[in-house]
Amino acid sequence: MNILGIDVGASGIKGALVSLEKGQLSGERYRVPTPQPSTPHAMSQAFAEIVRFFDYKGPVGCGFPSIVKKGVSHSAANIDSSWIGTDIQKVFGDACGCPVFATNDADAAGVAEMRFGVGRNEDGLVLMITIGTGLGSALFYKGELVPNTELGHLIWKHGKIAEAHCSSGARTRLKISRKEWADRFNEYLQHLELLFSPDLFILGGGESKFFEQFKSQLHLKARVMPAKLLNNAGIMGAACYAFENQ
Ligand code: BGC
Repeated sequence: MNILGIDVGASGIKGALVSLEKGQLSGERYRVPTPQPSTPHAMSQAFAEIVRFFDYKGPVGCGFPSIVKKGVSHSAANIDSSWIGTDIQKVFGDACGCPVFATNDADAAGVAEMRFGVGRNEDGLVLMITIGTGLGSALFYKGELVPNTELGHLIWKHGKIAEAHCSSGARTRLKISRKEWADRFNEYLQHLELLFSPDLFILGGGESKFFEQFKSQLHLKARVMPAKLLNNAGIMGAACYAFENQ
């Protein structure tokens, strides 16, 4: 059975059909740029375009870059502030004509990695960090997700949040080298290690593609692994969420 998973990001909205039996995408991804400003109306048109592209009818999973509780967005760090209090499932569902099931994007990516990726058979404490425009987090204990952890928003240096110092978006915005960025990111992971003592860190999001370049700068007690599903984890986890909640 194929379920459509859509990963809504601050810069792009990506979708693909996912085979949950095989634990892989069933075909090509389709991506549209995130409209600017990223208002609910504009984003819902882009979301519906993806559903139309696949000529799909059925439950649609949606990973969304904010705190998500019962399908409603409760924050808006890298998207238009009018999302706060907006029912994602209703707005996207009305636009595409299918039932939509929304969860936090990093939680979705984490679920996919735990099920089909490097987190398989890990029963201790696993912390996934997604490194993109924002910094997302997904925390698991014995395979069970603690949702909406938002560890990218830990208050970090000079009263700013960690995301403002060590996301991929911050690296571009502050025009710092990947080497300098990796030192900052190492410090951030060390702080998370102090707080949570994970057994395994999984690094996902766009920046995880460069893991080989920066892994020697990470000094942690826990194992650190790049996400196996790379940037498809969010799409796959969104599909899992729809399947389980439909
Ligand atoms: C948001 C999170 C999201 C992360 C990655 C952060 O700015 O607050 O909800 O998971 O970005 O998109």
